[in-house]
Amino acid sequence: MPGETRPYAVVASFVDITERKQLEAQLLRVQRLESIGTLASGIAHDLNNVLTPILASSQLLLLKHPDLDSQSQRLLKMLESSARRGAALVKQILTFAKGAESRPSPIDLRSIVTDAVLFCQQTFSRTIVLSVEMPESPMSLVLGDATQLHQVLMNLCLNARDAMQEGGNLSITVKEQLIDDLGPESYRSHAQKQYVVLTVKDSGTGIPREAIDRIFDPFFTTKAADKGTGLGLSTAARIIQNHGGFITIDSKLDQGSEFRVFLPAV
Ligand SMILES: Nc1ncnc2c1ncn2[C@@H]1O[C@H](COP(=O)(O)OP(=O)(O)O)[C@@H](O)[C@H]1O
Ligand SMILES: [Mg+2]
Repeated sequence: MPGETRPYAVVASFVDITERKQLEAQLLRVQRLESIGTLASGIAHDLNNVLTPILASSQLLLLKHPDLDSQSQRLLKMLESSARRGAALVKQILTFAKGAESRPSPIDLRSIVTDAVLFCQQTFSRTIVLSVEMPESPMSLVLGDATQLHQVLMNLCLNARDAMQEGGNLSITVKEQLIDDLGPESYRSHAQKQYVVLTVKDSGTGIPREAIDRIFDPFFTTKAADKGTGLGLSTAARIIQNHGGFITIDSKLDQGSEFRVFLPAV
């Protein structure tokens, strides 16, 4: 009726916004990581300019004065090695920030594992017992950058070592796996694909529930300032993502940790 003010209908709409909320949170997180990345790469470039002359001068001084007393030589060498460490750190930050430029080629992950195992055997304490399990028959290759994949594995192994100060077991395995539709939710977008799976499992301290969400954040570390950079896992995650793969983690406090790296088989 004209002029009537009585409501004649109610429009109700129910939309499930859980997913939208999750996407928003994810977007915010990505944006936050991006800005940290931009900031970090700016600082890294500046630092490079600071470190290069220090490194060059210390090397030059050593060459120019071969008859220098041994204490001064030691000091110069210390200067050189510190500058080198700084440069390596800068490089790591740049890899994290940019994902570095990669040169993909077909790779047998087993060769990467063999290299890393050799390194672990030579440098880790004897109280860490290493075991490796890989198929002996031919297996699928992955398309990737060998240096970067090596870096990922090393980061995982070093974290495992750090988590086992009192010793323990470190086990590395490589196998192939088809991920089907029945997999857990988080795998579903990767379903029906053949993957090469690299697992690094330790019997160390494990990771408390509240920290698990943050371990892949750049600069998140629970280690002393001179031990941890908090860049290992964020760099690893970035690299694996650029390779079309993903990382899963299974860990409980005091019960060790298991990191799994999934890379698409070619
Ligand atoms: N295997 C592991 N066992 C226990 N904690 C771990 C393990 N791997 C990673 N973490 C936790 O995640 C944090 C971030 O790791 P990472 O990004 O490699 O940085 P960093 O090793 O420099 O601290 C570590 O400080 C540690 O708290
Ligand atoms: Mg680390």
